[in-house]
Amino acid sequence: MRTKLFALFLVVMLVLSVALPAFAVDGAATFKAKCAACHGPEGQGKIGPALKGTSVTADQIIDMLTKGNDAKKPPHKKPLSGLTPEDAKAVADFVKSLK
Ligand code: HEC
Repeated sequence: MRTKLFALFLVVMLVLSVALPAFAVDGAATFKAKCAACHGPEGQGKIGPALKGTSVTADQIIDMLTKGNDAKKPPHKKPLSGLTPEDAKAVADFVKSLK
Protein backbone atom coordinates (compact mmCIF):
# COMPACT_ATOMS: atom_id res chain seq x y z
CA MET A 1 0.00 0.00 0.00
CA ARG A 2 2.71 2.46 1.00
CA THR A 3 4.78 1.63 -2.01
CA LYS A 4 1.83 2.27 -4.28
CA LEU A 5 1.21 5.65 -2.70
CA PHE A 6 4.85 6.52 -3.03
CA ALA A 7 4.86 5.51 -6.68
CA LEU A 8 1.80 7.67 -7.24
CA PHE A 9 3.52 10.56 -5.51
CA LEU A 10 6.55 10.15 -7.75
CA VAL A 11 4.41 10.16 -10.87
CA VAL A 12 2.59 13.30 -9.74
CA MET A 13 5.86 15.08 -9.00
CA LEU A 14 7.27 14.07 -12.34
CA VAL A 15 4.23 15.36 -14.21
CA LEU A 16 4.30 18.63 -12.25
CA SER A 17 8.00 19.18 -12.84
CA VAL A 18 7.49 18.74 -16.56
CA ALA A 19 4.27 20.73 -16.84
CA LEU A 20 4.95 23.70 -14.57
CA PRO A 21 8.10 25.19 -16.11
CA ALA A 22 6.51 24.89 -19.53
CA PHE A 23 3.59 26.89 -18.27
CA ALA A 24 5.76 29.45 -16.49
CA VAL A 25 7.65 30.38 -19.64
CA ASP A 26 4.61 30.72 -21.89
CA GLY A 27 5.21 34.12 -23.43
CA ALA A 28 1.67 34.49 -24.72
CA ALA A 29 0.19 33.85 -21.29
CA THR A 30 2.64 36.26 -19.65
CA PHE A 31 1.80 38.90 -22.23
CA LYS A 32 -1.90 38.50 -21.56
CA ALA A 33 -1.40 38.73 -17.81
CA LYS A 34 1.25 41.47 -17.61
CA CYS A 35 1.26 43.54 -20.78
CA ALA A 36 -2.08 43.35 -22.58
CA ALA A 37 -3.80 45.86 -20.29
CA CYS A 38 -1.48 48.58 -21.60
CA HIS A 39 -0.35 47.27 -24.97
CA GLY A 40 -3.57 45.57 -26.11
CA PRO A 41 -4.28 41.83 -26.34
CA GLU A 42 -2.74 41.66 -29.82
CA GLY A 43 -0.03 44.18 -29.11
CA GLN A 44 -1.93 46.76 -31.15
CA GLY A 45 -1.40 49.43 -28.52
CA LYS A 46 -3.67 51.00 -25.90
CA ILE A 47 -2.25 53.16 -23.09
CA GLY A 48 1.17 52.00 -24.18
CA PRO A 49 2.46 52.07 -27.77
CA ALA A 50 1.73 49.30 -30.28
CA LEU A 51 4.29 46.52 -30.02
CA LYS A 52 3.51 44.78 -33.31
CA GLY A 53 6.51 45.07 -35.58
CA THR A 54 8.41 47.11 -32.99
CA SER A 55 11.95 48.07 -33.89
CA VAL A 56 13.29 47.28 -30.41
CA THR A 57 15.13 43.97 -30.27
CA ALA A 58 14.19 41.03 -28.03
CA ASP A 59 17.35 41.69 -25.99
CA GLN A 60 16.37 45.31 -25.44
CA ILE A 61 12.91 44.23 -24.31
CA ILE A 62 14.38 41.68 -21.88
CA ASP A 63 16.72 44.34 -20.50
CA MET A 64 13.96 46.89 -20.11
CA LEU A 65 11.66 44.41 -18.37
CA THR A 66 14.23 42.96 -15.99
CA LYS A 67 16.34 46.06 -15.21
CA GLY A 68 14.17 48.98 -16.20
CA ASN A 69 15.25 51.73 -18.60
CA ASP A 70 15.68 55.23 -17.24
CA ALA A 71 15.07 56.75 -20.66
CA LYS A 72 11.54 55.31 -20.75
CA LYS A 73 8.34 56.56 -19.24
CA PRO A 74 6.66 54.56 -16.46
CA PRO A 75 6.12 51.72 -15.99
CA HIS A 76 9.35 50.83 -17.80
CA LYS A 77 11.68 53.10 -15.86
CA LYS A 78 11.69 50.31 -13.29
CA PRO A 79 11.81 46.53 -13.79
CA LEU A 80 8.33 45.07 -14.14
CA SER A 81 7.45 43.26 -10.92
CA GLY A 82 6.71 39.55 -10.79
CA LEU A 83 8.62 38.78 -13.95
CA THR A 84 11.45 36.23 -13.88
CA PRO A 85 14.26 36.50 -16.46
CA GLU A 86 12.72 33.41 -18.13
CA ASP A 87 9.33 35.15 -18.34
CA ALA A 88 10.98 38.26 -19.76
CA LYS A 89 12.70 36.22 -22.45
CA ALA A 90 9.53 34.32 -23.35
CA VAL A 91 7.43 37.47 -23.48
CA ALA A 92 10.09 39.31 -25.53
CA ASP A 93 10.09 36.47 -28.06
CA PHE A 94 6.30 36.62 -28.10
CA VAL A 95 6.35 40.39 -28.73
CA LYS A 96 8.77 39.88 -31.61
CA SER A 97 6.45 37.23 -33.06
CA LEU A 98 3.50 39.66 -33.23
CA LYS A 99 2.68 40.72 -36.75
C1 HEC B 1 1.06 50.15 -17.00
C2 HEC B 1 1.09 50.06 -18.45
C3 HEC B 1 2.12 49.15 -19.10
C4 HEC B 1 2.37 47.82 -18.85
C5 HEC B 1 1.71 46.92 -17.83
C6 HEC B 1 3.39 47.43 -19.78
N1 HEC B 1 3.76 48.49 -20.58
FE1 HEC B 1 5.17 48.48 -22.04
N2 HEC B 1 4.95 50.49 -22.28
C7 HEC B 1 4.03 51.29 -21.62
C8 HEC B 1 4.25 52.68 -21.99
C9 HEC B 1 3.45 53.87 -21.48
C10 HEC B 1 5.33 52.69 -22.90
C11 HEC B 1 5.99 53.90 -23.56
C12 HEC B 1 7.21 54.28 -22.75
C13 HEC B 1 8.02 55.38 -23.39
O1 HEC B 1 7.79 55.69 -24.56
O2 HEC B 1 8.90 55.91 -22.73
C14 HEC B 1 5.74 51.30 -23.07
C15 HEC B 1 6.77 50.89 -23.91
C16 HEC B 1 7.09 49.57 -24.16
C17 HEC B 1 8.05 49.12 -25.14
C18 HEC B 1 8.88 50.00 -26.06
C19 HEC B 1 8.17 50.15 -27.38
C20 HEC B 1 9.00 50.93 -28.36
O3 HEC B 1 8.69 50.85 -29.56
O4 HEC B 1 9.94 51.64 -27.94
C21 HEC B 1 8.07 47.76 -25.08
C22 HEC B 1 8.91 46.81 -25.94
C23 HEC B 1 7.13 47.36 -24.08
N3 HEC B 1 6.55 48.47 -23.53
C24 HEC B 1 6.88 46.04 -23.71
C25 HEC B 1 6.08 45.66 -22.65
C26 HEC B 1 5.92 44.30 -22.23
C27 HEC B 1 6.54 43.09 -22.92
C28 HEC B 1 5.11 44.33 -21.14
C29 HEC B 1 4.67 43.15 -20.29
C30 HEC B 1 5.72 42.32 -19.72
C31 HEC B 1 4.74 45.71 -20.89
N4 HEC B 1 5.36 46.49 -21.83
C32 HEC B 1 3.90 46.14 -19.88
C33 HEC B 1 3.07 50.85 -20.73
C34 HEC B 1 3.01 49.56 -20.18
